Amino acid sequence: MRSHYCGKLNLSFNKQTVSLCGWVHRRRDHGGVIFLDLRDITGISQIVINPENKDAFAIADSCRSEFVLQVTGVVTPRPEGTINENMATGEVEIIASELTLLNTAVTPPFQLEGYIDVGEDVRLKHRVIDLRRDNMQHNLILRSKVTKSIRNYLDNNNFLDIETPMLTRATPEGARDYLVPSRIHQGHFYALPQSPQLFKQMLMIAGFDRYYQITKCFRDEDLRADRQPEFTQIDIETSFMTAKDVMDKSEQMVRTLFADVADIKLPATFLQLSYAEAMEKYGSDKPDLRIPLELVTIDELLTDIDFNVFKKPAANANCKVAALKVANGASLTRKQIDDYTKYVSRYGAKGLAWIKINKLESGIEGVQSPIVKFLGETVTMQIIEKLQAQDGDIIFFGADKTKIVNDSLGALRCKLGKDLNLYTSDWQPVWIVDFPMFEETDNGELTALHHPFTAPDCSAEELAAKPLAANSKAYDLVINGYEVGGGSVRIHKQDMQQIVFNLLNINEEQQQEKFGFLLNALKYGAPPHAGIAFGLDRLVMLLCGTDNIRNVIAFPKTQSASCLLTAAPGKVDQPQLTELHLNIKPKLN
Ligand code: AMO
Ligand code: AMP
Repeated sequence: MRSHYCGKLNLSFNKQTVSLCGWVHRRRDHGGVIFLDLRDITGISQIVINPENKDAFAIADSCRSEFVLQVTGVVTPRPEGTINENMATGEVEIIASELTLLNTAVTPPFQLEGYIDVGEDVRLKHRVIDLRRDNMQHNLILRSKVTKSIRNYLDNNNFLDIETPMLTRATPEGARDYLVPSRIHQGHFYALPQSPQLFKQMLMIAGFDRYYQITKCFRDEDLRADRQPEFTQIDIETSFMTAKDVMDKSEQMVRTLFADVADIKLPATFLQLSYAEAMEKYGSDKPDLRIPLELVTIDELLTDIDFNVFKKPAANANCKVAALKVANGASLTRKQIDDYTKYVSRYGAKGLAWIKINKLESGIEGVQSPIVKFLGETVTMQIIEKLQAQDGDIIFFGADKTKIVNDSLGALRCKLGKDLNLYTSDWQPVWIVDFPMFEETDNGELTALHHPFTAPDCSAEELAAKPLAANSKAYDLVINGYEVGGGSVRIHKQDMQQIVFNLLNINEEQQQEKFGFLLNALKYGAPPHAGIAFGLDRLVMLLCGTDNIRNVIAFPKTQSASCLLTAAPGKVDQPQLTELHLNIKPKLN
């Protein structure tokens, strides 16, 4: 039907007869001549329909937005004065000889011409129309380029693309499972994979050496702007490779990707930061290192003050007081500070103390603050000195449980970076390493910081003796504050795996029931192996410059995990429930 694409025409096609197919983006009547902007996946061409061409003119006259047309015509230079430099095809127009109406269209729910910002719910409900928009087409085209670049890189490095099951058993990655009831096995359920973790490990034991898969993962967890219940991982596993080998290969892959699809040159080597340092300086294990602000713990300066808001947390091992200096921040208004105080309260902070340094040489007289009267001159000056604050700066404070201070000041750091545009570079990749093996829950139980198959960085004896002191051989890749990937060296010995299960309070019976297949496979000569998984959606988000993951997924779910287009999840009929041996309880109000 078509000889050329709309967006590809230019003066080099002068005088050629072409056939185009696409949608009517815009129609303009100009004193007897009709101009149609015809749009396809590559862009727009201007079609000119002269009234002498009666059949074509009648069709053009009947055309409305989003009608589907086939156009045959001659590529012609636009008359002087009508060249559109903002348009890729702006130097030419197509003088139509023939128009075929391929389909009509009802009025779309929102205009595609010009970017009209409609509510996201409307966009998601009418996703088909939304996907016709320029920016969504750009994002999905880029997404396709991303997977192509990744596949090229991995194929060239001898990775094998192997599929793993979707109907499987639970793979613990810290979220709830999506379950699928079995018709044949009454009362039994498959789980959709939270990741292919265990299968990729078994592929290593089976000898496949280097595996990858670009695959869906399913996690029933609280959704955020960078989280979807089903998302895509670039999943990788290798045998006989160390953590460093995997990190080097991953860096190369990501560097190649950014260069290939967006002409972005990432640093030749990525920084590495220990988990402890990241938490201490940035309050987060996914720090945005484009922002030149750091948290500074000041507990040791606060032992002799009367101000309990600071004194108590400074003296408590589970709490801390941290300060965040913002150079030239003294110009922040009272209202802005109040807004930031409200902002940190979302993270549990009970307040946001601050000191503005107006004129340091005037001592305590030269500062302005709601708390210096409690801190006294000596401590105030010690804090200012420790933070190396100067005239015009502001210092914010958080005092609470360590987690609350880290979460709130860590988030404030990012918000200030954005609001005050403090970014010092465009791209800051960083590896976070030396993660603790375990965290302690509020009821004193251990949970794995990554997943339970991550190898510890110590002997089995040391791990069993002091589990909370042990680090793991895990690594996360963070770019501009987004965790884009995470992986580890795995446990490849059955006894070590059992020690970790025991520490996680998974008893022998549960171990056999849930992970017996893995424990068994580990007995048959499992090679040392290590791997990583990247969040494809997050990489594409970064490359598209959007902070909403739904903008890089063709048919995403809302924050409440529903699809507004298909109205999923939906009810099912009684016969289907019966077949699946399911009873639905009446809803309790
Ligand atoms: P992890 O759980 O860190 O590791 O996941 C790997 C990467 O997947 C992305 N990601 C998500 N993206 C969108 N929505 C979500 N709900 C979501 N959850 C995770 C993140 C993350 O870095 N099996 C291990 C990997 C391994 O050890 O090899 C795993 O799944 O970018
Ligand atoms: P108050 O004495 O409660 O008025 O607090 C004095 C200042 O300390 C105010 O600016 C509060 O915002 C701040 N503040 C109170 N509690 C905390 C806290 N836990 N961490 C940081 N600042 C706080």
